[in-house]
Amino acid sequence: MVSKFTFLFLPLLALIVHAKHPATFNIGKYGGKPNANIAKALLSAWKEACAATTPSTIVVPKGTFLLNQIKLEGPCKAPVELRVKGLIKAPSDYTKLPDKKAEWITIRYVDHLTIQGGGVFDGNGKKAWTKNDCGKNPNCVKLPLNVSFNFLTNSIIRDVTTKDSKNFHVNVIGCKNVTFQRFTVSASIKSINTDGLHIAKSERINVTDCIIKTGDDCISIGDGMKQLHVQNVTCGPGHGISVGSLGKGATEEDVTGIYVKNCTFIGTQNGIRVKTWPSAPATLKITDLHYENIIMDDVENPIVIDQEYCPWDQCEQASPSLIQVSKMTIKNIKGTCTTPVAAKFTCSKTNPCKNVEIGDIDLAYNGSEGPITTKCANINPTFVGKQNPPICDAPSRAA
Ligand SMILES: *[C@@H]1O[C@H](CO)[C@@H](O)[C@H](O)[C@H]1NC(C)=O
Ligand SMILES: *[C@@H]1O[C@H](CO)[C@@H](O)[C@H](O)[C@H]1NC(C)=O
Ligand SMILES: *[C@@H]1O[C@H](CO)[C@@H](O)[C@H](O)[C@H]1NC(C)=O
Ligand SMILES: *[C@@H]1O[C@H](CO)[C@@H](O)[C@H](O)[C@H]1NC(C)=O
Ligand SMILES: *[C@@H]1O[C@H](CO)[C@@H](O)[C@H](O)[C@H]1NC(C)=O
Ligand SMILES: *[C@@H]1O[C@H](CO)[C@@H](O)[C@H](O)[C@H]1NC(C)=O
Repeated sequence: MVSKFTFLFLPLLALIVHAKHPATFNIGKYGGKPNANIAKALLSAWKEACAATTPSTIVVPKGTFLLNQIKLEGPCKAPVELRVKGLIKAPSDYTKLPDKKAEWITIRYVDHLTIQGGGVFDGNGKKAWTKNDCGKNPNCVKLPLNVSFNFLTNSIIRDVTTKDSKNFHVNVIGCKNVTFQRFTVSASIKSINTDGLHIAKSERINVTDCIIKTGDDCISIGDGMKQLHVQNVTCGPGHGISVGSLGKGATEEDVTGIYVKNCTFIGTQNGIRVKTWPSAPATLKITDLHYENIIMDDVENPIVIDQEYCPWDQCEQASPSLIQVSKMTIKNIKGTCTTPVAAKFTCSKTNPCKNVEIGDIDLAYNGSEGPITTKCANINPTFVGKQNPPICDAPSRAA
């Protein structure tokens, strides 16, 4: 006999179960098989999950899957989680991509996306790096393969790894309130142009508890970045955390509110760095930069502001950078450097660096190329605490 209780209780129970267990879309159900291209299966699963009116989870199970290329787009009707447990591998031959102009994986226009699960995005780039000479050759063939997060809002990407990208690992553009946590980037020190995270034109991005090993910048910050918090990130090998390079595009937007705290650099080429091009049109401002509690472990150039950035002499030094750097604090930086120049500030002649405050610095160089030193141009910092070595010839003072 069906009781009144059953009538009332079962729908309620169903509701609770439903709320607790989001609908799950396993790519296996859509024909996704290990060691085969899962692009179609993943896209079908995404379309269903994205159309669901309650939270849903797409599962890429344990195992190795191939993915030639994919674009996952919102808007979705409810939060979506992409749970990657396995390894998703790009084709090694980038000339075989269906759309040569598109990125390997593009995820865009999604609100409340979560990516997690402990899996790996493997760009399979070892072959491609040998062909990438974009650093030296402005007419190079641009390698397409990236993971791109564009126009995501209120999203979390955590506990996943991206390795051996053919180009920049992760490209973040137009995002708001997105957290990268325990996100691992892993590529050889010999890989070229493989920036870990490139973040631009975004707001309120947190990068927390991450380990980034790569051949180029650990994190590079492009124009239009507002409120970026980088905390407890370990970089190395690689080229450090860099604002820029900036200045080449006339319409570049201001960079404001960059906080780098409790980070460690191990054997990197640079630690913290700002770089802008000379003889370049942009007039944006770089302001509100804060670096605190940073350990430099055998870093070539721990602290760098370079407003005459001109790698491989690709530009002219005829006129200074028009970019104003201001409101910067550098506090509690310690460790070792592998060149005698512990800090190098080359600010713009026409727009000297303003309101730079330097706190405790304790850096040691024990190599044989002379005593530890700093180089300063067009900057007049204020000091608090104790600096070892003295910065910009200012006498070191006790705290
Ligand atoms: C890959 O990322 C880099 C860095 O943001 C970008 O310049 C390049 O255009 C991206 N590739 C594609 C195909 O979008
Ligand atoms: C930011 O995103 C997180 C993660 O989705 C969310 O929990 C939080 O409410 C968002 N914050 C705001 C101000 O929307
Ligand atoms: C990002 O980090 C800042 C500073 O630690 C913190 O105030 C903010 O709540 C964080 N945002 C999220 C979404 O976790
Ligand atoms: C810092 O990040 C590492 C790597 O993800 C993690 O193991 C460690 O627990 C984090 N430390 C703190 C204080 O959260
Ligand atoms: C950051 O580093 C400072 C100084 O080393 C330390 O006192 C503080 O506890 C650290 N914070 C976190 C969140 O690990
Ligand atoms: C230089 O510093 C490194 C790292 O602290 C240390 O391992 C090495 O022994 C030092 N060399 C000399 C000559 O002091």
